[in-house]
Amino acid sequence: MSADRRLFAAATARNREPILAVLRRMLPVNAKVLEIASGAGEHATFMAKAMPGLDWQPSDPDREARDSIASWVAHEKLSNVRAPVAIDARDDVWGVEGRAPFDAIVAINMIQIAPWSATLGLLNGAGRLLRGGGILFLYGPFMRDGRHTAPSNAAFDASLKARNAEWGVRDLDDVRDAAVLHGLHLRETVEMPANNLSVIFTKGGKR
Ligand SMILES: C[S@@+](CC[C@H](N)C(=O)[O-])C[C@H]1O[C@@H](n2cnc3c(N)ncnc32)[C@H](O)[C@@H]1O
Repeated sequence: MSADRRLFAAATARNREPILAVLRRMLPVNAKVLEIASGAGEHATFMAKAMPGLDWQPSDPDREARDSIASWVAHEKLSNVRAPVAIDARDDVWGVEGRAPFDAIVAINMIQIAPWSATLGLLNGAGRLLRGGGILFLYGPFMRDGRHTAPSNAAFDASLKARNAEWGVRDLDDVRDAAVLHGLHLRETVEMPANNLSVIFTKGGKR
């Protein structure tokens, strides 16, 4: 039996149910999903277990994360989560082009913990690889109109920037404006626990 390399993220235990509720509403039952920045893999396995019709492709540029994802999938004995692949959102080619188009691309708590170029890469990839009407789902803290929405988000932003000057909580307006350049239109924002947002873009028209 292979070693248990599962990692556990404390935030996932708090946010996975509310995220599932949004994804259930947004995704067709048989959606083909590409997850960017899967991290430990707990969201991938939780969503795929709850929605067995999904075909979920996890990814992360980090080797330890990919080992954890594979370990989680083995532990949960899931057949609808594929082997994790190495995707850096900044790359022009992601290596999953052969499986496109996807119904959804999901990135949870990623864009603030990566340089802005990773957000631009994510939007570029979503524009290339989503089907018309497919969705890009982002989850995390966002600034609105140039302001933090809560003191805790301002403190989190400062702590991110102290770790890496290129990281930081993004302003939803900046993300929306960049998304339009890739044919992605802001469809909905959903207030989530702990001052986070689910942000849903649609490729193509408004819906
Ligand atoms: C805070 S973790 C979030 C992981 C997981 N989505 C979650 O919510 O628990 C951020 C993840 O972003 C990944 N990441 C950082 N830069 C990235 C990039 N340029 N492209 C894709 N993933 C990236 C990291 O490897 C890490 O797994």
